[in-house]
Amino acid sequence: MEKKKEEIFENSDERQRTVHHSIEVRLENLTKEFSNKSGKVTVAVNDFSVTIPAGKLIGLLGPSGCGKSTTLYLIAGLLKPTAGSIYFGDEDVTNMPPEKRGIGLVFQNYALYPHMTVKQNIMFPLENMKMPREEALALAQEMAELVHIGDLMDRKPNQLSGGQQQRVAIARALVKRPRVLLLDEPLSNLDARLRLQTREEIRRIQRETGITTIFVTHDQEEAMSISDEIVVMNLGLKQQMDRPQAVYEEPINLFVAKFLGNPPINIFEANLVGGKLVMKDGEVIVEGFTQEDQEVYVGLRPEYLRVSEKGNITARIDLVEHIGRDTMILCEIEGYDHLIRAIVPNDRIFETGEIVKFDCTKLFVFNAETGERYR
Ligand SMILES: Nc1ncnc2c1ncn2[C@@H]1O[C@H](COP(=O)(O)OP(=O)(O)OP(=O)(O)O)[C@@H](O)[C@H]1O
Ligand SMILES: [Mg+2]
Repeated sequence: MEKKKEEIFENSDERQRTVHHSIEVRLENLTKEFSNKSGKVTVAVNDFSVTIPAGKLIGLLGPSGCGKSTTLYLIAGLLKPTAGSIYFGDEDVTNMPPEKRGIGLVFQNYALYPHMTVKQNIMFPLENMKMPREEALALAQEMAELVHIGDLMDRKPNQLSGGQQQRVAIARALVKRPRVLLLDEPLSNLDARLRLQTREEIRRIQRETGITTIFVTHDQEEAMSISDEIVVMNLGLKQQMDRPQAVYEEPINLFVAKFLGNPPINIFEANLVGGKLVMKDGEVIVEGFTQEDQEVYVGLRPEYLRVSEKGNITARIDLVEHIGRDTMILCEIEGYDHLIRAIVPNDRIFETGEIVKFDCTKLFVFNAETGERYR
């Protein structure tokens, strides 16, 4: 056991010395348009600029169809951009063929060769580049150890669990020592427990290798938990890039505020009148706005609503749900037809029909038309 540890340590030492000197990835005004036969144009990626720091794991997060995969395939070179540039470090790779870019790509459906063993699958990219067999074998074994499948080398993919198959796919992507690792929803075929386990594995592998990694997902929790920073995307446009907690606590606009958070943020209409934020029932919640009078959206995360005698949002409890450590209450506010959710501590009993007052220490206010955040 002790020996094995040592070997792995030596291997990872070697790896750090020989290969993954991390590289920055920069996208400059990247645009990709698709046009169909009748001439209708879809802008899948729209003037997208982002700098991905060397050695970091970035989560690319957004709803279905927002352009995540397209962005990844542009970086991989599988698609040509309509406009804009891609840099790996100082090198402009925009027109470089995919095989020259030094990328490792992992898809959602693993795409392993079913008739080959794990070993053959991992070695395949090396045979393609005509590496001597002994060397290829050693490298494949090293990668397999890294992803903790070193003892499964002689199995076929159908003799592996989903999580193990995904690790083979990752080992295969890493074996050519790519400069950049691209993962397109690599966990979506796994069940909940395996998802959690495998995402922790991916994080560990990324840390050990120091390889610049872009991880595409539409699952906010996955992105939040695994990423150094997340890039939130919508309709081909970059919305915000920051550390996960910062994006959650300081969303730049209404879209980001609504996209992150589970249970989701409460949104309701209110008005700015003479610099005051006024609810539909006439209550003033906060003052000090400099914007002109207008209708706005207020965003309140369920955990920001605090029950307090002095609170200025009055609500009637409609439903009490116990969710483990916390209690969630759903409440009606006068003048509003949708319920708001609040997560409250378990230290007192709440009852349906009860009137409570909420204090909002923290709230967001958004322009109703543009979604821009005022506060
Ligand atoms: N080859 C193509 N031809 C035409 N339109 C395409 C093509 N590939 C993607 N699109 C369109 O571009 C947009 C972005 O697609 P993309 O696959 O990048 O989204 P995504 O964010 O990866 O979504 P998902 O989460 O569902 O995988 C979509 O509107 C899609 O229909
Ligand atoms: Mg996709």
